[in-house]
This record gives sequence, structure tokens and C-alpha cells, in this order.
Amino acid sequence: MENFKIEIDSDGILTAFFDVPGKSMNTFTKGALADLARIAEQARTDDAIKGVVITSAKTSGFCAGADLEEMLGGAWEGPVDKNDPEGALKAGFDAAFEMNRVYRALETCGKPVAVAINGLALGGGLELSLACHYRVLSDGPKVQVGLPEVKIGLFPGGGGSQRLPRLIGVQAALMAMSEGKSFKPKEALSAGIVHEVVADDQVLSAAKTWVKANPKASAPWDKSDFKIPGGGPYHPAGSQIFVMANALLRKQSFGNYPAVQNLMKAVYEGIQLPFDAAIRVESRYFVNTLQTPQAKAMIRTFFFSMQQLGKGAGRPAGIAKTDPQQVAVIGAGMMGAGIAYVSALAGIKVILLDRDQAAADKGKAHAEGLVKKGVSRGKTTEAKGQALLDLITPSTDYSLIEGCDLVVEAVFENTDLKEKVTKDAEANLYKGAKADSAIFGTNTSTIPISLLAQASTSAEKFIGIHFFSPVDKMQLVEIIRGEQTSDETVAKAIDYALKIRKTPIVVNDARFFFANRCFIPFTAEGLHLWAEGYAPALIDNAGRATGMPRGPLEMMDDVALDLLTKITSETAKAMGDAYVPIPGEKEVAQMVADGRLGRKNGKGFYDYPDGGQKALWSGLGDLFAVKVDDSTPELVQEIKDRLLYIQAVTAARCFEEGVITDPREADVGSILGWGFAPWSGGIISFIDAIGVEKFVARLKELEAKFGARFATPQLLTDMATKGETFYGRFGKAEKKAA
Ligand code: NAI
Repeated sequence: MENFKIEIDSDGILTAFFDVPGKSMNTFTKGALADLARIAEQARTDDAIKGVVITSAKTSGFCAGADLEEMLGGAWEGPVDKNDPEGALKAGFDAAFEMNRVYRALETCGKPVAVAINGLALGGGLELSLACHYRVLSDGPKVQVGLPEVKIGLFPGGGGSQRLPRLIGVQAALMAMSEGKSFKPKEALSAGIVHEVVADDQVLSAAKTWVKANPKASAPWDKSDFKIPGGGPYHPAGSQIFVMANALLRKQSFGNYPAVQNLMKAVYEGIQLPFDAAIRVESRYFVNTLQTPQAKAMIRTFFFSMQQLGKGAGRPAGIAKTDPQQVAVIGAGMMGAGIAYVSALAGIKVILLDRDQAAADKGKAHAEGLVKKGVSRGKTTEAKGQALLDLITPSTDYSLIEGCDLVVEAVFENTDLKEKVTKDAEANLYKGAKADSAIFGTNTSTIPISLLAQASTSAEKFIGIHFFSPVDKMQLVEIIRGEQTSDETVAKAIDYALKIRKTPIVVNDARFFFANRCFIPFTAEGLHLWAEGYAPALIDNAGRATGMPRGPLEMMDDVALDLLTKITSETAKAMGDAYVPIPGEKEVAQMVADGRLGRKNGKGFYDYPDGGQKALWSGLGDLFAVKVDDSTPELVQEIKDRLLYIQAVTAARCFEEGVITDPREADVGSILGWGFAPWSGGIISFIDAIGVEKFVARLKELEAKFGARFATPQLLTDMATKGETFYGRFGKAEKKAA
């Protein structure tokens, strides 16, 4: 057997050690499933076998779930023959049902089966465990179990959607599966997901002990007196659960996730059926989910692309890896303080510079606050926290920059000031031992990198390293190439971003780079709608229904209205005659002048009463009278289209201009940078799933009705003519794999 090592002891207990060759973590491939089927068959037919224990031979964990590469490669859907849709569906069902069939064969093999979960067990790994009669879990610090499939657009399709509700009740199971929640050992025990939690070196023996003591074991749902804990749909209490859960999931996901809807249906229908029929229902909904564009795009972006970019997929080839040890952060304000913290968290020594010692100390105090919070929540220890803080030296002395591997400049957004700081910093950076290898990064959010590089003595070592706020939470870092930035500098900036555990994307220099360039039109479209007389509540409700984390008006409050007003006026200044004013921008400037700065001072488009719920500010109607406040489905759809298409067409323009070149970076960047509707798999998958031709047709309608900002870029016209997709035309990974 290739994927399991078998031992049979003198008591007749068969222990199967899961150990997929050549992989650091076990996943279920078709081959591994076939091996497990043989184990179940041997247990069923061989009288000498008295019981079975499943465990993992890997130190990395038990099993991370199904092999997504195989799944996305179509192996789990079966052969798709366009001329035989019925046959294709049947083949898809058979392929997806195989996991259920095998797990069920193990569960009903007639011998006691226990699992010794000696590490992480997620997705198909936990589902296998649920099919065992007894579950012992290791109490190791990194151990977690859960069914996180919804996070990549799927739902548990290996019996999880049927066994978990039967085990812990419908409500708890639906919550765990619709959130993709992970359980630590103690949580898993108290939730009733496992029977026992023991020290890591005792999991196997505990599982064996149980098998020996329980020669006649079967699953609770195979017993004649079985009842769903808390009641099924026809039980007075159970019926309430579905009504509430349905409303709650609708409120959270606006029907954007087929996986969540299918999960609900599979649970509702499945728990009313005998178990063998229930898993067939699950497999049907699973295949249906797997075939949606949302699932395919989410798997690609959330699993593959994030992993690839997290390993530096955008890094120029052929350049030796670097490992920055010391960084100087200049400007200890909101951004600089965060950058200092995440750098020290990764073990990098930080010189944190500001104009005066008090400002520098304040920057370090931010790190102290985060450490304190981490200690109080048990996420770190006092000693580790202190070691982190010891790495940060707050100062005003630029001579300390000598010997640093890189500088990250985060002073006020002012070109003259940044030029002066660049000169002063480089005079120290480019001398001494690191003179040749060091690089200079700026965290500017709006000023072109090539313009700032004019102040540098070494423009080839000058680069944009653009963080997002709050730095300790936001995963994305935009690495911006100036005209003269060298590949080596790009590689070093990526090495730094990876070391501080951020996900870097590489973009070329252009106004607002990539993320802000696509995000700002979302808020601007909100202003258009407001100025046209749409009720603010309608705008933000439709905004949230697109799957964006917030509607455009509340999003502006969160960013801060004064900052947006400043960006608008600076943009207008820089663009001169080419600038097209946004209706509503004057009114927002007036709100700022009247002290309405957004969430940060409790007054913006919304009022934020202390401890109370935010509510739309009553004065909005005085600035633009409400003309439209009734919402037909068609109207809501049009607002949703405007809010999403304006972002997506901007992303297409970024490809046309070469600001961004890799669809994976655009998709991942859009989700990590500004929360672009995650159900779509990202801003480029959004267009690809609609199809460029249809996308262009809708753009033309929007342009005719709302103006030139929706004009079709030439690139899209070309792609529509040729029937191309973004991943087909620009997809590097797919081309290489092919
Ligand atoms: P901030 O106003 O909080 O901090 C700027 C800091 O620079 C202040 O502590 C100030 O004392 C210091 N400073 C000014 N002149 C200095 C000098 N000559 N030497 C050393 N320190 C000096 O500003 P924030 O928000 O941290 O922004 C900093 C940079 O990051 C700007 O370029 C901004 O555009 C960019 N950025 C801001 C984001 C945000 O959400 N606030 C997001 C991404 C980038």
C-alpha cells in the first residue's frame, strides 16, 4: 500500500499509519482513498482482525483534507463530455461519492474503528475521523480540527455535513461549517467532536485501549434508537433552528456563496433520511458546488495563488535569496509604528526614527500596546514580548541607519519632506559594511516612486513598499517598481515582505498603484449614487449585498473623510485639466470642514454614538435630496453592478497599462488589500467568470447610462473578440504548468 503503512499486533488490531509519500502533509488523493478502501475491506473480511486504529506517520499533522490539486484538475468531477451532460453529472457524482463510499465502508466494517488524531485534522481529515467510532485527539499546542471548506467555496463533502449535525446538533454544526471554524483540542472535546484529549505520545495507545474494550462498536446514527441532538426539522425546537439559520446566513452572505446555500440544503434534506441516503444527497450538492465558478475561483485564489505568492511567486528569477536582519523605519506615526512592530515580530532589529524622541517613543509604545494585548490573550509570553520590544530602538539619530539592510520611509505624505529624508537617510545607508547591498523603500500611498527616486543617489535601489492599515492585521504589501528599480531590489523587497509574513504583489509605478486605484472608484461610485439622489441606506445596503465588507459610504467613514478629501484635492492638483471632478466631493469637503471626519471622531456619513449602533446622519438629505428610496430587484442589481464593474474595469485598465501583470496578484491583492467580494475569487476572476464578452456588453450599457468612466478598454475589446480570459492570456502559473 502506497499511502498507509500497516501493522497488525498480537491482539489482532490493525493500525494504519497514514503517510503519503513525498509530501510533508497528508492529503486525500484518489490513490489514498483506494488504499483506505482496501483497509476497510480487510477489516470486514479478515476474522483475524479484531479492530482498526487510524493514525498518521507524519509529524506535521494527521491530514489536511482532500488533495485540491487533483480536485481542481477535474479528477473529482469525472470526465466532462459536453455532448453528454447527464453522463458527465453521473461521472461527477461517482467521483465525489467515492470519499463517502470509502468512509462509510470503514464505518460499517463490523469491527471497532478508532482514530488517533496526532495533529491537525481539517476537512477530509476530520471527516475521516468522524467516520471512526471513537476519536482520540492529541493536546499538542498546534493541534486543531475543523471543517474549513467554505473558506475555499466548498462545503464538507466527505460525510461531514451529515455526521457533524448528528453528532453535535444542527445549530452547532451549521455554525461550525458555515464559518469554517477550527477547534483547539479542549474546544473540540467540549463541543463533543472528539471523545478524549490526551498527551501527544498517548493518542495511539488510548485509541488501541478503546478498540480492545469495545469489540462491538457502531456509529450512533446506525443504532435504531438514534435521535438528532436538539431535534431535526420536524421537532418543535429543531424546526426553529432552520428558520433562524436561514435568515442569519442570508444576512451574512447575501446569497453570494453557493457553497453555504448548498450546505444548508444538504443538512436540511440529509438529516431527514437514513444515513446511506443522506450521504448521497450530500455528494449531489457537493458536485453542484464544485462546478460553480465561485468554487473554482475561490480554490484557485484562496488556496493556490495565496500559497504561491506567499512563497514569492512574483520574485524575479535567478537572484540569490536575502535575509534582512536590520531595518530602519523613518517616521514613527501610525504606519511606521506598525511596520516596526511587524518587523520585530519576525526577529528583525528595528531602528525607529522620528523628528523628536517623544514621537519615536510613541511609535514604540504602539508595539508595547500590541505585545501587552498579545500577552493578556495568551498569544505570546512576557519573555517573548520583551524580546520583541528589545529589538526596537526608538531614536532621532540618522547615523544609526548605517549597517541596516533596508530603510522603510513612512513620514508625512509630502514630496519635499520625503526628498529631504531620502537624502539624509541614504547618506548613512550607503556607507559601511552594507553600503552595496542595502535598499531604500518608501511607504508612500500616492506619490509616484520614480518621482521620489529623483532624490536618490541610487535609483536602482529605490522602491515602493506599500503597507495597508492597520499594518499588523493587513496581509498585503504592494511592492512598486520605479522606472529604474532593479530586479535585485525587487527580490530584496519581496524577501523582506515574506520574512515579516506578508503577501507581496509586484506592481508598476502609476498613480495610486494597483489597490487604491481600483478601490477609490468604489467609494467614488457611492458618491455618484448619493449625488443622483439614491437614499444612502439603499446605497450601502446594495453595497454590502455585492459581498464587499461594507457599503461605499460607511467605507469612506472608516477610511476617514479628511484623508479622502486630501487625496481628492492632491489628485486634482496633480492631474490639472485632465481631472474629472466627482459629484459629491464638494459636499464631503464641506462635511470635513464642519468637523465630520468619519468613524475616527464619531461623525461622518453616519453618527457613531458611544456604545450604540451607528445610524445614518440626518443631515445627509440636506446636501442631496433623496429621490430614489424604493428598491426593486432590478434597481438593486444595477447599483451592485455599478459598484463592482467600476472596480473591475479599473483593474482591466491596470492590465492594459501594465501596472499589474499577473492575474493571481490582482485577485489576491484585491481580496487582501480592500476586501473585494471574496465569493468571486477576486477582481479578475470576477470578470473571467462572467466572461469578457458579456462583461463588455454590460459595460457598454453602463457607459451609455452613466458615462465615460465605464468606457471599455481596448484590451477588453480585443479579448472579447478572441474569446480570451485573463487567466488564459496573462496566467503565468497555468502557462508554466501546461
Ligand atoms: P502619520 O502622520 O501618522 O506619521 C508620520 C510620522 O512621520 C509622524 O510621526 C511624524 O512625526 C514623522 N515625521 C515627519 N517628518 C519627519 C522627519 N523629518 N523625520 C522623521 N520622522 C518624521 O502618517 P501615516 O498615516 O503613518 O503615513 C505615513 C506614510 O505612509 C505616508 O506617506 C502615507 O501616505 C503612507 N501610508 C499611509 C496609510 C494610511 O492608511 N494612513 C496607508 C499606506 C501608506
